[in-house]
Amino acid sequence: MERIKIGLLGFGTVGQGVWKVLGKNHTVFEKQAGFTFEISKVLVNDIDKEREIRLDEGILTVDPEEILEDDSIHIVVELMGGTDGAKKYVEKALEKKKHVVTANKALLALYGKELTAIALKNGVQFRYEASVAGGIPILHSIRESLTANRIQRIMGIVNGTTNYILTKMSREGVRFEDALEEAQQKGYAEADPTADVDGYDAAHKLALLAALGFKSGIDFQQVYREGIRKMTPTDIEFAEELGFVVKLLAIGMEEDGKMELRVHPTFIEKEHPLAAVNDAFNAVFVEGNAVGELMFYGKGAGDLPTASAVIGDILSIASHWNHSSPPSYQLDFSETCKTIKSMD
Ligand code: NDP
Ligand code: HSE
Repeated sequence: MERIKIGLLGFGTVGQGVWKVLGKNHTVFEKQAGFTFEISKVLVNDIDKEREIRLDEGILTVDPEEILEDDSIHIVVELMGGTDGAKKYVEKALEKKKHVVTANKALLALYGKELTAIALKNGVQFRYEASVAGGIPILHSIRESLTANRIQRIMGIVNGTTNYILTKMSREGVRFEDALEEAQQKGYAEADPTADVDGYDAAHKLALLAALGFKSGIDFQQVYREGIRKMTPTDIEFAEELGFVVKLLAIGMEEDGKMELRVHPTFIEKEHPLAAVNDAFNAVFVEGNAVGELMFYGKGAGDLPTASAVIGDILSIASHWNHSSPPSYQLDFSETCKTIKSMD
């Protein structure tokens, strides 16, 4: 059986999740794809760090060139986070005609269009299902299964860390700082949790959902953004007394070529399905003009759920291996950017 070699950039929460799921389900993947998969090199910052998974000597490296310059590596999986270093490595991998899978929404929100163009030019695939809502196959659904629709509304809880914090504050009266620490320990939060708490991560995800759903270029800077840092237990109690729960919502609407894109804490009626989405779970509500209303629900963060989406992308690349068909899942930014309504 032919072997597909993978280079991992990053071996933290998600990188180790990918290792675990590939190990656990490899016989299924082999049967399904007709290939064996081998993670042959893994880039990290600190080779001596204690990790849950210990790799054989020679697999870990601190030199990205050992992955990017190795012609035997076919797929590069970027799970290191950040934007500048990740962009440099992803760009180089694509130029070296390696397929790339990433879970990095910050990278995509800032450089998705550019990287997509490089992938297209080099005839390789650039996939990123895990970048929005972890294990929920929302991008695939919007990009492929809902193409018969004009999508009018996308609304969701797309950040697991803030949802975890709000749930803990509301159910158990845990302090904001303690709930954040728990979310970090569970591997939900970004390396710099400001991205979660101040709504940047949800805004990056909304920009991606809107680009694919509303088929438009998105200037991420124009997404209105407000995080949960100022929420106090009193705000949450007050909401509950009035019959509401507080959630950090990402809301995108499109009408007559104009988009409204915003992320902010929102009072939701207790009976609304989004009110029941707790802990690090995510949910995305989509409204299309043929299908009507849909809601996607599942684990939006964490090692195995995110690995599920990453490996789905790897298997999808493998399924196109011997076909000359064009890459099937490019970030389809159109040249013209629809107007984004100002929320100030
Ligand atoms: P972690 O911080 O847990 O892991 C990052 C890994 O990348 C570490 O192994 C780190 O090395 C390595 N790394 C970081 N920067 C560099 C660098 N400059 N050079 C070499 N190695 C580097 O992150 P996560 O696994 O949580 O997240 C990875 C990506 O996945 C991010 O883009 C995140 O937004 C995204 N994501 C995360 C989810 C989650 O639930 N955690 C869910 C969905 C997406 P070392 O271990 O030596 O420090
Ligand atoms: N930090 C992100 C979150 C990881 O909490 O949702 C998943 O994208």
